[in-house]
Amino acid sequence: MDLELAGRNVLITGGSSGLGLGLAHTLVKEGANVLLVGRNADKLDAAAHDLSAAGTQVLTVPADVRNADDLQSAIDTAEREWGRLDGLVNNAGFHTGSGFETTTDDEWQMDFELKLLAKIRGIRQSLPLLRKSDAPAVLNVLSIYARFQPNKSMPSSVYRAAGLALTNGLSRDLAADRIRVNALLIGFVHSDQWVRGAAATGADVEEWEANRAEQMRIPLGRVGRTEEFADVAAFLLSSRASYLTGTALNVDGGLSMVV
Ligand SMILES: NC(=O)c1ccc[n+]([C@@H]2O[C@H](COP(=O)([O-])OP(=O)(O)OC[C@H]3O[C@@H](n4cnc5c(N)ncnc54)[C@H](OP(=O)(O)O)[C@@H]3O)[C@@H](O)[C@H]2O)c1
Repeated sequence: MDLELAGRNVLITGGSSGLGLGLAHTLVKEGANVLLVGRNADKLDAAAHDLSAAGTQVLTVPADVRNADDLQSAIDTAEREWGRLDGLVNNAGFHTGSGFETTTDDEWQMDFELKLLAKIRGIRQSLPLLRKSDAPAVLNVLSIYARFQPNKSMPSSVYRAAGLALTNGLSRDLAADRIRVNALLIGFVHSDQWVRGAAATGADVEEWEANRAEQMRIPLGRVGRTEEFADVAAFLLSSRASYLTGTALNVDGGLSMVV
């Protein structure tokens, strides 16, 4: 199946590692141009170096998505280089999860800015460029905890649920502009944040992930591969998904109890 992504221009927040970088690899193989956003310039440079072998345009902008001016500088780069955006992937983030009583106001505020306000601003500030595309798509990377909220999942699960509401509402608001808005709800998929998690305990990452997958009782019996996330994400961004909007797919090996 030809995803018809060749020549498409996609901005990925959190594109310098983990799931975002995995998606960038899939997109450049399909012939798309990518603009990666992350805070650490060295990580962005390393990612761009690896991605450049595919021969498409790879741009990077060091930016903190919690800052509206930083976000605008990334969007300005897309405008200057491409004049339009075909895809916006709101992916930047990392796991947070603690008990309600122990979560501080600062932690609520930080997670709100990272997981919700950054998506709101990123979409709003990208609208002029998305409207210039003949097949624009927004993809919000969320978690399965958007649909059910287990113990000690604060503050993340609250903002994931809000991200799902944003996806659903915007799919209607932006349909007049033919901008599709979808979400992926991730369960447990291999990424750099779990490499760091394993390293913090001194464990081998494969063993650590296998143990967690077993404890979590993932029905398919294993952690997801980054490429498995990237394939679904690339499909949702592509014109092959042209009739899908307002959809949220679980990428979780069957872990979620909610479809
Ligand atoms: N992997 C999973 O199993 C899983 C499960 C549920 C949800 N998710 C969600 O999937 C998304 C990707 O996670 P991942 O697992 O790929 O994590 P990761 O490997 O740690 O990658 C996170 C990316 O986000 C960037 N980032 C973090 N904070 C940022 C900020 N304030 N501004 C700009 N960029 C920022 C990081 O770069 P810098 O640090 O350089 O900024 C990095 O590129 C996140 O939203 C995460 O919560 C993942």
